[in-house]
Amino acid sequence: MKLKLKIWRQKNAQDKGAFKEYEMEGISKDMSFLEMLDVLNESLIKKGEDPIAFAHDCREGICGSCGLHVNGRAHGPVKGATICQVHMRSFEDGQTIVIEPWRAAAFPIIKDLVVDRTGFDRILQAGGYISVNTGSAPEANLIPINKDDANEAFDAAACIGCGACVAACKNASAMLFTAAKVSHLSLLPQGGTESTERVIRMVEVMDNEGFGNCTNTGACEAECPKEISISHIARMNREFLSSSARK
Ligand code: SF4
Ligand code: FES
Repeated sequence: MKLKLKIWRQKNAQDKGAFKEYEMEGISKDMSFLEMLDVLNESLIKKGEDPIAFAHDCREGICGSCGLHVNGRAHGPVKGATICQVHMRSFEDGQTIVIEPWRAAAFPIIKDLVVDRTGFDRILQAGGYISVNTGSAPEANLIPINKDDANEAFDAAACIGCGACVAACKNASAMLFTAAKVSHLSLLPQGGTESTERVIRMVEVMDNEGFGNCTNTGACEAECPKEISISHIARMNREFLSSSARK
């Protein structure tokens, strides 16, 4: 395949940044999107140029490290997939591909396509845990859990913290991420101990980190690689109101 890439280059957080164009030839359709960027980086290194910085780790849709805007879509054109799971066969020969980092004030750019997502870590630190006396390992089925709750908690637990929901939202809201974490824990009996405190603390940190509010446009759900439902946001809002009233 022959491609024209327009990639956001930014030396550091202070640099203004700009798009730079790269022409590529001989790209296999079976290559992953990140492998294609590896090939480009190898050629840049050979020419003595600075390679493009982009975040990645597992390259199989698990770790949540990767994340790019590709032609205006978070994680590119394939629904329900992270950009590391996208292959070049999803693009046309001769196509121009515009590659940008996540855009959100709460995710400042560190370099090129890498953004600082530690705001998510601080939301998690505020309540994304359970305090249980671990003791010896209990029998697996000792605590009965309603099947619907277990299914829903499992769906929420699929969130990999990639940040696409924030990047896709016109308000740069982190509600889908935070709601997934709240649901994941509060739907299970083990998470009950801190449920009142958890939702209040996590929402408070989310707001302090500079993420915007949800206005129900649904862009987060549409672009989430794990297809997390916005119904979790409704649950978080209900939990927040009832917890605030109880305090
Ligand atoms: S809710 Fe979806 S888009 Fe948002 S961080 Fe989790 S997996 Fe990524
Ligand atoms: S590199 Fe781990 S999810 Fe993409």
